[in-house]
Amino acid sequence: MELAIRPLASPIGREITGLDIERDIAPETAQALHKAWLEHGVLVFRGIGTAPEAQLRLSRCFGELEPHPIPKFRHPDYPELILLTNQDGPVGPVYDFDGTEIYGRIPWHADLAFTTTPNAGALLRMVHKTADGGQTGWLDLALAYDALDDETKARIDDLEAVYLFRAGLEDMRFNKQDGTRITPRNDNYPHFPPVVNPLVWTHPETGRKILNVSTMNIERIVGMDESESDALIARLIDHALQPRFQYIHDWENDDMVLWDNRRTLHCATGHPMDQVRVVHRTTIKGTVAMGRVLEEETAA
Ligand SMILES: [Fe+2]
Repeated sequence: MELAIRPLASPIGREITGLDIERDIAPETAQALHKAWLEHGVLVFRGIGTAPEAQLRLSRCFGELEPHPIPKFRHPDYPELILLTNQDGPVGPVYDFDGTEIYGRIPWHADLAFTTTPNAGALLRMVHKTADGGQTGWLDLALAYDALDDETKARIDDLEAVYLFRAGLEDMRFNKQDGTRITPRNDNYPHFPPVVNPLVWTHPETGRKILNVSTMNIERIVGMDESESDALIARLIDHALQPRFQYIHDWENDDMVLWDNRRTLHCATGHPMDQVRVVHRTTIKGTVAMGRVLEEETAA
């Protein structure tokens, strides 16, 4: 088998074929994978995620892994694996969408966009897919930035925005979803203070400019009045959410998808609550801070 990098049936990301992760990955292969990850933002590996060890072996090609901060989300036998499942009931909110109880819908976001230091990336492995729904989407914010007109680029290049932690769809200000919550709000999350991050971020490894619009988290542009700020953010989000910057993955069991979390947004469509889905995830630790924590006394 020879390693190959192939286009997907979408404008972003690549598929990797010819990779054997049942044994140690040679350093030159790891290097080629790391390069492809930075170059393309999203890598799809079909049908090769056979076991936790294989997933961990592949994940370690991209950096230091970060266990989930909350122990109950860690795989009992592999602490670096994060277990995402509804097999013992929901661990997140359930919403009614058009009469169906949907679990796991998460709109477009970057992980930890509400902190100063996003994860470098993550890798999902489908252990048990659902018959219905359950797709995951990715969106390339480097391509989205590149496609802006020069006037807009000049206007936004030096702006900063405030980003907030949000635990529910109903809290979102942009890209708002129309579901109705079924499970009660019993949010028991740590406190995350607001942060100020660049609206256009320079990727720490590639130097590419990134349009930093995590739709769940972005709140306002620093130093701009509210109506102007809302209009600008809405316009940038509309631009970024175009299908030409997206890849939507229809999962088969043992598929794996890796992404660069500093460059992309991702979303989950969710699936009917009465179907069980099991996903194993690894997270690649972020190493570079993009912004600063906003002092809450001055946040008003
Ligand atoms: Fe996420």
